[in-house]
Amino acid sequence: MLEVRRLRKTFAGFVAVDDVSLRVSAQAIAAVIGPNGAGKTTFFNLITGHLKADSGTVLLEGRDITGAPPHRICRMGIGRSFQRTNIFARLSVFENIQAALLAHQGHGRNFWSRSEDFYRDEANALLASVGLEEKARTEAGTLSYGNQKQLELGIALASEPRVLLLDEPTAGMSARETHETMHLLERIAGERKLTLLFTEHDMEVVFGIAQRIAVFYQGRLLAEGTPHEVRADREVRRIYLGAAA
Ligand SMILES: Nc1ncnc2c1ncn2[C@@H]1O[C@H](COP(=O)(O)OP(=O)(O)OP(=O)(O)O)[C@@H](O)[C@H]1O
Ligand SMILES: [Mg+2]
Repeated sequence: MLEVRRLRKTFAGFVAVDDVSLRVSAQAIAAVIGPNGAGKTTFFNLITGHLKADSGTVLLEGRDITGAPPHRICRMGIGRSFQRTNIFARLSVFENIQAALLAHQGHGRNFWSRSEDFYRDEANALLASVGLEEKARTEAGTLSYGNQKQLELGIALASEPRVLLLDEPTAGMSARETHETMHLLERIAGERKLTLLFTEHDMEVVFGIAQRIAVFYQGRLLAEGTPHEVRADREVRRIYLGAAA
């Protein structure tokens, strides 16, 4: 579904992503892990077009999308959420979803309806899908942290991605919120036949749901494999997982 070949990115001579090659199969749930500064977010930004690679190639279903602008890559089917939240705090939950649907689909279809009716059914369906139907009228800025992340997921889904990149989807969540969110992600990925690629520091989450794990270290891909293979990898244990796994 997604293939990255020898991707490289430097910032003023500092190598943030160092010749990384990786393939993600259709409908896989894959995690990218590694210590702070390992290059995970940069790697995502290169895939989604938010950063330009120095060299290397990104292929979506075999099609070269390297260097395309973010909105085009989004339209081609790669959605994302950000490590820092990306919602309109003063709008309601419903309006946030509505805005995302409008941004993706344009207003043509609902030209004659009142603005509050724009994509009403689609927005309600998305809210139900991420478990926020009861918060539809709540001002987004007042949501709990976990609920904000659910909303972000809804916003990302509004662009109907086939591949979804999630940068630390459970950062800052309580143990219960983390558990619920990962459950939700698994369900949605299954229902929508998504290919899911996520970064995460919580190893319980990673080893709980990822089918494949890529380990980054100082910009390099240190190891890639099943959770079992990665846990058994001596380099990974020495450098990153240590006693934790
Ligand atoms: N725009 C930038 N300009 C200069 N250096 C950058 C820039 N973005 C990232 N870096 C550097 O590149 C390296 C990789 O950063 P990145 O944010 O990709 O790491 P990460 O694996 O996502 O870390 P974390 O787990 O803390 O989110 C870091 O050393 C960071 O300081
Ligand atoms: Mg990061």
